[in-house]
Amino acid sequence: MDNEQIILLSSREIEKMRQAGQVAAQLLDYLEPMVKPGVSTLELNDAAEAWTQKRGAKSAPLGYPAGGNNPFPKSICTSVNEVVCHGIPNAKQILQEGDIINIDVTPLVDGYHGDTSRTFFVGEPSPIARKLVEVTEECLWRGIRAVRPGGKIGDIGAAIQEYAEAQGFSVVKDFVGHGVSRVFHTAPQVPHYGFRGRGKRIRPGMVFTIEPMINEGIWEVEVMSDQWTALTKDRKLSAQFEHTIAVTTEGVEVLTLRPALVPTA
Ligand code: MF3
Ligand code: CO
Ligand code: CO
Repeated sequence: MDNEQIILLSSREIEKMRQAGQVAAQLLDYLEPMVKPGVSTLELNDAAEAWTQKRGAKSAPLGYPAGGNNPFPKSICTSVNEVVCHGIPNAKQILQEGDIINIDVTPLVDGYHGDTSRTFFVGEPSPIARKLVEVTEECLWRGIRAVRPGGKIGDIGAAIQEYAEAQGFSVVKDFVGHGVSRVFHTAPQVPHYGFRGRGKRIRPGMVFTIEPMINEGIWEVEVMSDQWTALTKDRKLSAQFEHTIAVTTEGVEVLTLRPALVPTA
């Protein structure tokens, strides 16, 4: 993926990505109130699939990658507690009070992907779970703020790693952010660790995700025999947040950010 050419999008294509990104953000908003003790991850999946179809969109994770020998079997990823990413929704997995769950959605809207995820609390989190989730979201925002046209991809990971480690957590190295447009995963790779001033140059027209996975304990992960579910080696907690962003000449636009509605009087 990283020796592919980086695709630069026109403003017309960025508008398509903005639309896909907003659908993705709305889907997470729709799912959020369903995250409660007693709900299964399959119920979240099925609600997401129905909502996506009603919007006339497709769930890009379902059957991804096309033609692969172990395509992802569901429409969203649901990663609970020690699961780092790519958790597979399952009727037997019932959310429990105190769990944390990352929901990662990627609707395909008129040919373009909106890729975003958030980690939610199921009921009241433990103090360490709360801290991990808050630090992970701040890592995403520090990564976003490190994006600058003319800067380097390494600036992003450096900002994330510095903050995560200063808070006593570790950064997953096995999964990275990625270019995204008509293609789900393309160049550049966007590591969530590294060094300022290193890596490819960030240019206007680039659209990619930043999606740090931050662990309570050690950074190492293991992939289960289903060949998708990634979990922490030490079985401690992991959290993740993801946005799709577009680089413009002005700066950075967060395509999967749902603009806050300000109610009028
Ligand atoms: N949405 C994930 C990402 O952020 C990718 C999921 S691929 C799947 O890149 F096949 F697991 F769905
Ligand atoms: Co992604
Ligand atoms: Co994603």
